[in-house]
Amino acid sequence: MIIKNNNTFHLQGKNISYVITVNEAGDLIHYHFGKKLADRDYSLKNEKLEYSLISYDENNIYLETAAQEYPAYGYTDLRTPAYKVRNKFGNSVSRLLFKDYSIMEDCVAEVEGMPCLFKGDKSAQTLEITLCDEAIGLDVVLSYTVFDEYDVILRSSRIINKSDEEMAVESAYSACVDFDKNDYDLVYFPGAWCREREFTRVSLNLGEKIDISNARGGSGHAMNPFVMVCERAANEKSGEVYGFSLIYSGNHSSLAECDQYGNVRVIQGLNPYEFQWNLESGEQFSTPQAVLSYSNCGFGGISRGMHDVYRNNLCRSSWADKNRPILINNWEGTYFDFNEEKLVDMAKKAKSVGVELFVLDDGWFGKRDDDLSSLGDWVVNKKKLPSGIKGLAEKINAEGLAFGLWFEPEMVNPDSDLYRKHPEWAIQVPNMKPSLCRHQLMLDLANDAVCDYIINAVGSILEDANVTYVKWDYNRMMNDMPFKGYNHKYILGLYRVFDTLTKKFPHVLFEGCASGGGRFDAGILAYSPQIWTSDNSDAVSRLKIQYSTSVCYPLSSISAHVTASPNHQLGRITPLKTRAEVAYAGIFGYELDITAMSDEECEEVKKQIEFYNKIKELVRTGDLYRLQSPYDSNYCGWQVVSKDKSEAFLFSCRILSQANFKDAAIRLDGLDAAKEYADAETGDVFGGDELMEKGIRPVYEKQDFSTFVKLYRAK
Ligand code: DGJ
Repeated sequence: MIIKNNNTFHLQGKNISYVITVNEAGDLIHYHFGKKLADRDYSLKNEKLEYSLISYDENNIYLETAAQEYPAYGYTDLRTPAYKVRNKFGNSVSRLLFKDYSIMEDCVAEVEGMPCLFKGDKSAQTLEITLCDEAIGLDVVLSYTVFDEYDVILRSSRIINKSDEEMAVESAYSACVDFDKNDYDLVYFPGAWCREREFTRVSLNLGEKIDISNARGGSGHAMNPFVMVCERAANEKSGEVYGFSLIYSGNHSSLAECDQYGNVRVIQGLNPYEFQWNLESGEQFSTPQAVLSYSNCGFGGISRGMHDVYRNNLCRSSWADKNRPILINNWEGTYFDFNEEKLVDMAKKAKSVGVELFVLDDGWFGKRDDDLSSLGDWVVNKKKLPSGIKGLAEKINAEGLAFGLWFEPEMVNPDSDLYRKHPEWAIQVPNMKPSLCRHQLMLDLANDAVCDYIINAVGSILEDANVTYVKWDYNRMMNDMPFKGYNHKYILGLYRVFDTLTKKFPHVLFEGCASGGGRFDAGILAYSPQIWTSDNSDAVSRLKIQYSTSVCYPLSSISAHVTASPNHQLGRITPLKTRAEVAYAGIFGYELDITAMSDEECEEVKKQIEFYNKIKELVRTGDLYRLQSPYDSNYCGWQVVSKDKSEAFLFSCRILSQANFKDAAIRLDGLDAAKEYADAETGDVFGGDELMEKGIRPVYEKQDFSTFVKLYRAK
């Protein structure tokens, strides 16, 4: 609901309020974001002004500590601004004052050319506030959407050149929140290839500015576009926490700044590094959408809220709200070394244990027997696959499995027919040899002709063969950017490609991938409801990776495969049971040479698939509770409870075995205290209150990496 009261705009979600007021001078002041407030007039009164250290005396304007909605550069506030435009006078000083507003019922704000949340069957309202800097001829439209049943505020902004001359936008964040409470921590998710999204928590101290950004082209392994600020005492279950998630797949920045008085500013949006967008008179620039969330139930509260929002209102794919097929992918099973016979054998064996989808990974096209060549040439390698993709798909279908295919459409190898024909299609700068990475170059998606090529190349294969799943890979960072703002132009091209292909092939399940989880972001999730989480498939490493990925992103987006032991990335040996039980908390599959597994192992795999089939709906749609953190203990545990609290799935791992040591009881969460729950395996019955207050004794085996799972059903 959006309430306008005098000079106050009050957005109310399920349990939250977001209050904005316009002060006497016309500055747009942030008043409250947090727990729901009553409907009253929050117009700024004098004592509040003093408290906020804001002065309106013409000779003494002082915005430096004022909480503002979209702070400008240089006009008495010297903290990081939400936007910067180089104006006709050659400087970037600006001041935005309130001009106008409109409230749109039944509406979720859209952002031109970029993915954003949609309304679906929810009730939502949007407020647009137009601010204006008359001196330089600039309008900025701030957009806020609130859903009645969620605790999120969507923010984006539009910068409009109202002057007669060209104007350069040098930075344009999507959202800014100025908190006037002290003592916050910042949580963010840095990482690298094979160790994505490490849960990292630091204190925000006086005078500190922490820049959580990435400028590697894609949203990146190195830093995820999701951050949280929280009270110092906040933990998994309690405390006030604010989440900031950007729906964007390119260079991003989230900045947390604590001023000399302890005021904390968080801004999130496009990374201003190497960014510039020139606006002719009358033109406008739109920022991506940021999703701001609040919970007073700790990080777990933020997660459950974000999971609902991203599961229901982000991805438009027909697969978003369907159970996904259990797949087998041949990558770690064969790498480039396969032929048709081998693949069909794998599919046959996989079918016998209950797998539903066979995915052919890298190496099926051009003359690609290693990663040196052929990206860009999306034509089947007939030496390996004499029946072509169409024929192979038919053979796999005849075995009773659906067929899926890997592409890396944004890339080109210099050794490819495409590059020989169109060397100018690779991203490059004049007079410099473009820099290779994994022997490949990136295609210039800022060029419409290149985007059309990709749409046609991928599209013609999807038209020709019965391919119902696509793994869309992206395996290098972006260098050699020819001009400032290039990265954003590229990302707009990428979104056009995704938009076209996903609309044209609505039956196809797309899975995002970028050397594992290098582009695990809400922008990619808008087109593909699942993403390959990490190239590190070791079950023990996956504890941390999946734990921290789940803080923002739902389990329905986290692709998790059982791979061979010893693990290919680490050499670690883990039981097949552990590998499967870790992977249950996501979109489950296998990625190994199943033809090399013993009958005994295949029997175990069959049982694993039977078990996952029992919980997959629950995992995809339920509420997640993280119970034990691998970041600060020798354990990792999580639990998923169905929305009606009739079912709960519990997982726990003791990472290293310990002698003469009593493992603590595990207290479940989120159950109905008044209900009785039966352990689906043993039939033992427990009260919901008993499971949550007394907990259960864990049943680890005497070995490292011991896991167990339990399924409870309400009686
Ligand atoms: C990187 C991906 O993350 C892997 O799963 C695999 O598809 C390889 N690329 C193939 O080159």
